[in-house]
Order: sequence, then structure tokens, then C-alpha cells
Amino acid sequence: MASLLFRNARIYTPVDEGRASAGVSQGEVATWDHGALLCKDGRIEAVGEESAVLARLLGAGPDAAGRGSALEEVDCGGRCLVPGFVDPHTHLCFLRPREKEFLARLDGAEYLDILKAGGGILASVESVRAASEDELFIATRDRALSALSLGTTTVEIKSGYGLSTEAELKQLYVIQRVGRETPLSVVPSFLGAHAVPAEMRGRADDYVDLLTREMIPEISARGLAGFCDVFCEQGVFSVDQARHILEAARGAGMHLKIHADELHDTGGAALAAELHAVSAEHLLAASDQGLRAMAAAGVVAVLLPSTAYSMRKPFARGRAMIDMGLPVAIATDCNPGSSCTESMPFAFGLAVLQMRLSVAEALTAATLNAAYAIGLGGECGSLAPGKSADFLLLDGETPAMLAFRAGISPVAEVFKGGIRVWPSEVSEVVNYHER
Ligand code: NIG
Ligand code: FE
Repeated sequence: MASLLFRNARIYTPVDEGRASAGVSQGEVATWDHGALLCKDGRIEAVGEESAVLARLLGAGPDAAGRGSALEEVDCGGRCLVPGFVDPHTHLCFLRPREKEFLARLDGAEYLDILKAGGGILASVESVRAASEDELFIATRDRALSALSLGTTTVEIKSGYGLSTEAELKQLYVIQRVGRETPLSVVPSFLGAHAVPAEMRGRADDYVDLLTREMIPEISARGLAGFCDVFCEQGVFSVDQARHILEAARGAGMHLKIHADELHDTGGAALAAELHAVSAEHLLAASDQGLRAMAAAGVVAVLLPSTAYSMRKPFARGRAMIDMGLPVAIATDCNPGSSCTESMPFAFGLAVLQMRLSVAEALTAATLNAAYAIGLGGECGSLAPGKSADFLLLDGETPAMLAFRAGISPVAEVFKGGIRVWPSEVSEVVNYHER
């Protein structure tokens, strides 16, 4: 493959120091006003001031990238170039949005009451169980491609709308297939503990047994999910149940995540710290004590501002969390109920304007810290030699446009492994791996 040189770009990237960026360093990103990015074979070879990248290229001799072999140049026209977004928390694998439930919530119905009455997550479980694998794949793939067009190059996707061994496996196979048949890198998480299924209503402990004795061992044996997540919430799974499930998952070799303190402070943040989970997510109602424990344990706080928006809840205290020294990431939480959007630019805008992150902090949250939240810090999330050449060109000069252009995506072009994948023909994008 030819070397590719992207020049005349305003480059902004977090600096990877081997872990998620916390405190003051979350807001310190590298910037080159006349920047260039050199890639070869899908990987970044060099990034920096254009003159320095060119000098390196010339000094490298005829056999090195560029001279003597083919070199293609792309003039970025002074546009802003940032790493591709990593969306570290989604529930993309579903059939359709629960539109009527949204209307009911606008009229005052409570999310957890809807679930208690057999709707909400359980309504999505019914449709996912009834769907064929192909139907579910097409719905999930199309949503993933929509996310790609909005700048997401790596995505975590949770199961959790199956709630039986068979249906959870179906979801996880679909999620893996999305990784094979689209340009996106996909990280699957097992969220069998999303709700107690209708057929086991009132028997939560029996369902926890099913999770720990059958589902987790089966999914781990088949290598279908590197992470296990639990919806730890009043009326869903208690802290003790969550601990039991997550310990079983850890025993089976999975890494841990928790939907923690989303609607009530149940001690989910402290549990994430106790178990040294990779991340704790939501945290709208988390206590200072829980957050401090997370900071001490190095747990990434994954914040989901479009969920607070869609639920009309106060936003998570992103500003305070960064000031407390927590590494903060942002995600869409895209799902059919509480946050029906796959737009990272929208999450970015809310993070800046509602959670008061600086533009640089939000960029780190949507890229490097998000990559660490799903175990891919060494692979993507920043522009550095050796990493996958996943990046975006924005209509504008700085990443501030992501917050400023509300309701519009300023993502003009998306590159994955050095290949432009958006704008592109759908057929090209679907056949990405054959190119
Ligand atoms: O992260 N809170 C639990 N799970 C999702 C919502 C899933 C749904 O409503 O379908 C969330 O908000
Ligand atoms: Fe979620």
C-alpha cells in the first residue's frame, strides 16, 4: 500500500502517556497549525508540524515511506484533523426505537416505572428475541454506519436485549459480525444483567444464578465478549448482586464495567472502585465519596450526556470529576429508550456546554480516554506513530466546531486505517475488508 501524506491540516490530538488522561493533563492536547500526518499500511508513521514530517520523510532515504515507493498526498485545506471518535458505551444492537415510551416520558412517566410494568428494556427484549439474526444484523449495521458517518471509528456494543442464553448469544454474534462487515472496530460487552427477564419476574436471584453458572461461562468459552457490564440500579440489580455477577465474570477472564448510580446513588461508583473495574458509566447520582474512590482506583468515568438530555435529568458533574482527578470519557449510550442517538458530536457539544468541559478536555474524553475505557488505549484514541490511522477532517479550524455547530455534524471526512470510509458508497463501506 502507498504511503499517504495528509498535509496542510490543523491537527489536535491528546497525548498518550500509557493510561487514560486525568486532571489537568486531560485538557492538554498537542496542536500543530501547519500539521501533517503520514500513514502506511493503515498505521500512523509520523505526525507533527508539516516541515518536521517532511524532513523526516526526505531524510528516511529512498526505501522508506514515500521516496522510491508511491506517496500519495492529500491537501487538507487547512481544516481541523482529529482522532476518530471512540464511542465506549452503546446498546446499538436493537430493532427499533421505543417512540411511544418517549412520548409517555414527555408526559411525565418515569423510566424505571415503565420497566417495572414490563415495558422499557423488556419491550426491546421481546422484539430482539423475535428477530432473525439477519434482521438484527441489518438494523445494527445500519446504525453503526450512521455512527461512522458522524465520526465514530471504534465502538463498544453491549448485549442485554436477549436475557436468555440463546438470545444473548444471538446478539453477541451479530455484534461480532458488525465488526467484520463494517470498517468500524467493535468491542463487544456482555450485559446479560441489564434487567430480570419477564419469565423470571420476582426471581432475580435465580436469574443471577443463570448468569453466573451458565451464561458467563458459555460466553467466555466462546470468546464472544471481553467485558461484562451490569445495570446496578434500584429495582434492577443491587450492589451485592452486581458484585456477585462481576466476580464471576472476572473469574471467567472478562474485564469489568458497571452502569453505576445512573438514577439513584446505590453505591455503584464505590463498587467499581472496590472491584477495580475498567470503567463506571452514567454516574449522574454518584456521591463524592464514590467518585473519590474511583479516582484512587484509576477507574475511568464514562459520562453519557445525551442520556441526561433525553431523560431530562441533571447532567453528571463532569467538570467536578475532572477537578477531582478522575479520567473522564464520553459516549452516546445509543439505545432504543434512554438515549436514542449515535452522534458523538452531539455528546461532545453537551459535554462542553452542559458539563462544562473545555474543548480540549472533551476531545480527550471522546478519543483517548474512551479508548482506555474499552481496553484499546494502545491501538487508537490519539494520533501517534504505530496507532491505527483513524482520523476525521472537520469543517472548521478547531474541534470547538463540534460543540458550536449544534444539531449539525461538522465531520466532513472519516478515515479508518488510512482509508476514507465516509463519504463513500455504502457498498464500498460494507465491503471495506475486501479492499
Ligand atoms: O444505559 N440504563 C440502562 N440501560 C440503558 C438504557 C437501555 C434501554 O432503555 O433500552 C442506559 O441508559
Ligand atoms: Fe447504557
